[in-house]
Amino acid sequence: MNITITTPLYYVNDKPHLGSTYTTIACDAYSRFQRLQGNTVEFVTGVDEHGQKIQRTAQSHQITPQVHCDKISLNYKELWKKWDITYTSFIRTTSPSHQELVNQFFDKVVKSGDILLGNQQGWYCVGCEEYKDDPPDSKSPCCPIHLKPLEWRDEENLFFALSKYQSKIESLVAQPSFIQPLSRRNEILNFVSKGLRDFSISRKNVEWGIPVPGYKGHTFYVWFDALLGYLSSLLPMQNKINLADLSHYGWPASVHVIGKDILRFHAIYWPAMLMSAGLELPKKVFGHGFLTREGQKMGKSLGNILDPELLLEQYGKDPIRWYLLSDIRFGQDGDFQQKRFQDLVNNDLANTIGNLLNRTSTMSRKWFDNGTPDFDINLEDSNLKLLAQESITSSLLAYEEFDFKTVCETVIKLATESNVYLNNTQPWTLIKEPSNKELVGYYLYNVLESCRIIGLLLLPIIPDTGSSILNQLGYTEQIDNWSDHIKWGVLSKGSILPKPTPISKKIEE
Ligand code: MSP
Repeated sequence: MNITITTPLYYVNDKPHLGSTYTTIACDAYSRFQRLQGNTVEFVTGVDEHGQKIQRTAQSHQITPQVHCDKISLNYKELWKKWDITYTSFIRTTSPSHQELVNQFFDKVVKSGDILLGNQQGWYCVGCEEYKDDPPDSKSPCCPIHLKPLEWRDEENLFFALSKYQSKIESLVAQPSFIQPLSRRNEILNFVSKGLRDFSISRKNVEWGIPVPGYKGHTFYVWFDALLGYLSSLLPMQNKINLADLSHYGWPASVHVIGKDILRFHAIYWPAMLMSAGLELPKKVFGHGFLTREGQKMGKSLGNILDPELLLEQYGKDPIRWYLLSDIRFGQDGDFQQKRFQDLVNNDLANTIGNLLNRTSTMSRKWFDNGTPDFDINLEDSNLKLLAQESITSSLLAYEEFDFKTVCETVIKLATESNVYLNNTQPWTLIKEPSNKELVGYYLYNVLESCRIIGLLLLPIIPDTGSSILNQLGYTEQIDNWSDHIKWGVLSKGSILPKPTPISKKIEE
C-alpha cells in the first residue's frame, strides 16, 4: 500500500521551534510505523516562503526575502537531519517548479469559472496571514493567537467561488473519517453550516509572492500558493509539470497532519480548490493541539519558544520524542514542563524498561552461557505471552489512529507486568536448585521475549532506543519490515546476548 503523509509547510519567518518539531516528529513516527508495516511512504514536509509576514521579516533584517528564505529553509533541513526525520520530499514554495504548478492550477480553476474580481474589506492578521471573521468589538482588535494588533484592509482581490461548493463541502466534512480527531470536526461543521463565503486568493500590496497571470499587480495569497505545495512536492522536479500525473506520485494524500489553527484551510478551502481543478481530495486531515509552555501557545511571535536544537544537544532525540508522544494525547493541547519531562524519561525509559532489560539479560547471561536460555519444557501459555499479544494488537490499532500515547502506555504496561512476572517467579531463588534450570530458562525467555516486543513497538516512537533494546537481544540487522518479527516466540533459544548497557541516560535535576 502507498501512504502519503504531509506536515504543514512551515513559515520561514523564523527558525523552527518545538511546535513545528512536534508535528514533524509525530509524522515521522507515523511514517516509520507504516514502513514497518510494509507500506511505501511518501513523507512530505517543507516550507512556506511567500507572503507579507516573510516580506516584513526580511525587511526588518535588511536582507532580501530570497536570502532570508534560503537561510531559514536551510535551518529547517539541517534540523530535520539532526532529528533524523525520515521525510522523502522537502518542498520550498519559492522553487520554479512550484510556481509553474500554481499557474497551471490557477488556469484550471479559472476555466471552471471559479475566479471573480472583487473588493475585500476586513481585519487582517499578518501573523496568521488571514482575515479574521469576528474580531472583538473594539477600535483596535488584536489577534488572539499572536496577541498583535489586526490591520484594517480594503483592497481589490481575486476571489475563489467557495460558496459554489457549499453542499459538496458539507457532505465531505460530514464523513466521520475526513476530519480527525472527531472533536475537531464540530468546529468545522459549525463553520460550514453558517454558509461558506468566497475567499480572496490574491493580494495587491504584497510583492513577495507568485504573480497572478493576467492580473497585473496581484500576487497569489500565500495560502492559495502554499496548499499547492503539497502537490508540487510530489511531482518530480526535472520533468515538465503535469497535474494529470499526480496519481502516479502519491496523490491523493492519505493524511495532512496540521495544527488546529489551520484546520479550516485544510478541511474547507483546500478540498474546494481541488474540486474546482478536478483533482482528487486528501483522505484525511488530522488536526493536533498546541504545545504550550506555562499554559501559553508556543510561538515565534510570542517569544516563548523552546529551541529544538538546544533540547536535542542537551537531552538527545529519544527523550524528547518520548515525552512529546507519550505524555500528550495527539490531537489535544499539551504543556511542556521540565520536571514532568525528567520524571517520565527517568521512570519509563531508564527505570521501567531499562532495568527490566538489564536485569533479565544479566541473569540469562549468567546462567545460560552468555546467551538466551535454551530449555525444553512446554508449559501453558504464560499470561505474559497473552499480554504481549494483546499489546501488539492494540498498539498497531493505536498507531493507525495516531494515538501514540496509547502505544506508549501499552508498552509501559507490558514492561511493568514483565517486572511483576520476574518478581513473582523469582528466578534468582529458583536457580539455587539445579533441577529448576529449565523452568528458570522458560521464565527468563518469556521476559526477554516481552522485551523484544517492547523494543519493536518502540521503533517508530523512539527509534534509537527501540534499536538499542533489539541489539541487546542479539538482533543486529536493521528491521525494515516487522511482519516476521512482531509476534511471540521469535527470539532464538541459546543465542548470544551482548553485555547489557543502559538504554536511556537518567536526566539529572
Ligand atoms: N505556513 C502555514 C502552513 C501552510 S500548510 C500548506 C503555517 N505555518 S506555521 O509555521 O505558522 O505553522 C505551521 C504549523 O505549526 C501549524 O500546523 C501550527 O498549528 C503549528 N504550530 C505552531 N505553533 C505550535 C505550537 N505551539 N504547538 C503545536 N503546533 C504549533 O501555518
